[in-house]
Amino acid sequence: MGILRKFFNQTRKPEGRLGRLMLRTMNAGHAKMADWGISYLPQISPVHIVEFGCGAGRNVGELLKRYPQAHVTAVDYSPLSVEKAKEYNKAMVTAGRCTIRQGDVSALSFSDGSFDLATAFETVYFWPGLEKCFSEVYRVLKPGGCFLISNESDGKDAASQKFEKIIDGMKAYTAEELEAPLRTVGFSEVISDHHRSKPWIRVLARK
Ligand SMILES: C[S@@+](CC[C@H](N)C(=O)[O-])C[C@H]1O[C@@H](n2cnc3c(N)ncnc32)[C@H](O)[C@@H]1O
Repeated sequence: MGILRKFFNQTRKPEGRLGRLMLRTMNAGHAKMADWGISYLPQISPVHIVEFGCGAGRNVGELLKRYPQAHVTAVDYSPLSVEKAKEYNKAMVTAGRCTIRQGDVSALSFSDGSFDLATAFETVYFWPGLEKCFSEVYRVLKPGGCFLISNESDGKDAASQKFEKIIDGMKAYTAEELEAPLRTVGFSEVISDHHRSKPWIRVLARK
């Protein structure tokens, strides 16, 4: 595997030296898209939030700022992402407002109905089976809870089609391809939006 291919594969599960390098680029690289995604959230006052596939943790920090009354639990299956997200949110972890732990979205250890809000930025491309993972998200949300997905790819853009060939197991979805399994697992209201000039999508589902 060439070095560039190895580097881009670090987006799926960062590890080692290349994973550290990749994580350094992620916070700044995804910030605009993530903020655009967060702005799609309705007026809610979540107390318990879970952020899936948190990477280096910048979006955890944004959720903590936006919802000062909330506790944010962040989950990532990469030990290196967990380490970096803890570093980024050190003050909030120490203050008890934030917990960051290793875990796989396809098999969550949380009890049913634990969270008011779940978020996923630039990560569903790598989840092992959307229905399985979305049913876990559905299970851990409270009735009325929201799930926000925000991606830089609308599943049709040239860049993601190139990355799908380079990154093992990556699948870039259209909004419709995300909406269908969300409805199948039980989400009642599912809406989506496309950025006016970039190939970004945001999908909001309510339990
Ligand atoms: C491209 S990074 C995005 C990180 C961050 N959300 C952001 O926007 O900068 C994808 C992250 O999702 C994590 N991830 C992928 N599949 C996962 C799964 N099944 N369970 C938990 N984390 C997962 C990866 O380890 C990686 O840290």
